[in-house]
Amino acid sequence: MSTLLEVNNLKKYFPLKNSQLLSRHKSVLKAVDGVSFSVQAGKTLGLVGESGCGKSTVGRSILKLVKPTAGKIIFNGESIESYRGEKLRKLRKDMQIIFQDPYASLNPRRTIAQMINEPMKIFNLPKANREKKLKHLLDVVGLQLEHKDRYPHEFSGGQRQRIGIARALALEPKLVICDEPVSALDVSIQAQIINLMEDLQAEFELTYIFIAHDLSVVHHISDQVAVMYLGEIVEMAEVNELYESPKHPYTQALLSAIPEVNPHQKKQRIILKGDLPSPANPPSGCKFHTRCPFKEEICIREKPVLKQVSTEGQLAACHFVKEVMRRETETNPKPDKKQKETLG
Ligand SMILES: Nc1ncnc2c1ncn2[C@@H]1O[C@H](COP(=O)(O)OP(=O)(O)OP(=O)(O)O)[C@@H](O)[C@H]1O
Ligand SMILES: [Mg+2]
Repeated sequence: MSTLLEVNNLKKYFPLKNSQLLSRHKSVLKAVDGVSFSVQAGKTLGLVGESGCGKSTVGRSILKLVKPTAGKIIFNGESIESYRGEKLRKLRKDMQIIFQDPYASLNPRRTIAQMINEPMKIFNLPKANREKKLKHLLDVVGLQLEHKDRYPHEFSGGQRQRIGIARALALEPKLVICDEPVSALDVSIQAQIINLMEDLQAEFELTYIFIAHDLSVVHHISDQVAVMYLGEIVEMAEVNELYESPKHPYTQALLSAIPEVNPHQKKQRIILKGDLPSPANPPSGCKFHTRCPFKEEICIREKPVLKQVSTEGQLAACHFVKEVMRRETETNPKPDKKQKETLG
């Protein structure tokens, strides 16, 4: 298996305009503050965290839509930092994005055929190929060919997201950054779109970064999951490990908020105290300490490093991983064998 994307110590700081803030605090907002991960070709990394934690900024940095303050992005074995001209053009073809709000990202005055054709025209695909491709794309995303001359407002939310997906796939990208692609959809439609994206991943050998607010959405589709808090990754692991044995109190809290489908495994809801601090003025030491039930003096003073906390390579940034794990086993015991059997 090969690594398609590597992100090393990515930082993106935005200058703050407010002069009052300038005088009292550092003059930058650290939207992304030292994020590292890699994604294997054909796999999905789920990127999860509350609003404003920097998920989209990570995605936009990878797409070269914003210039990182520091760090390296290596795509297909090459740093993309210096990409210009033809190389950048090729990169734009290889990396695509699917947005949260399909209505806002589709031009209301263009038919779906025009919109899906557009990137193919820009990249000079011959007309005959474009027509064949359009037909195939509409087919694979589950839209009817006879609807190709309709406008976005004539479709439902789920259908519009299918159009967005077809457009993203028109240039046969390698990497697709899915920025909350189902957050605006009804739950029943969410599952359909996620299933579709999984099928397309297999058919087109796609690699995904799948961004979402909550852990329930990314569970099914992800191979790896990274949990972000105020610009940093606080926990990252292979998907089953993260859901079965979270090692960071923030991940535990996010997981406890997911409604439980298994009646034998009732979880205790962990309510985080306090509001999400502003990324313009984050807490000292561990940024999570203001809301953490495990907080001790060291958390205010010392920033915990993201380090390996299990033999399987799970990473967590917390001074009290052992205590967090103890609570997890005490409050959320795994169902015993008999219960598992009755559940089938
Ligand atoms: N162009 C910009 N200029 C200034 N600040 C920005 C800019 N883009 C993002 N930010 C700030 O950076 C932080 C991270 O934003 P980002 O959009 O990456 O978060 P997010 O995790 O995607 O949030 P959401 O879940 O709401 O989409 C936020 O505080 C945001 O206000
Ligand atoms: Mg976002």
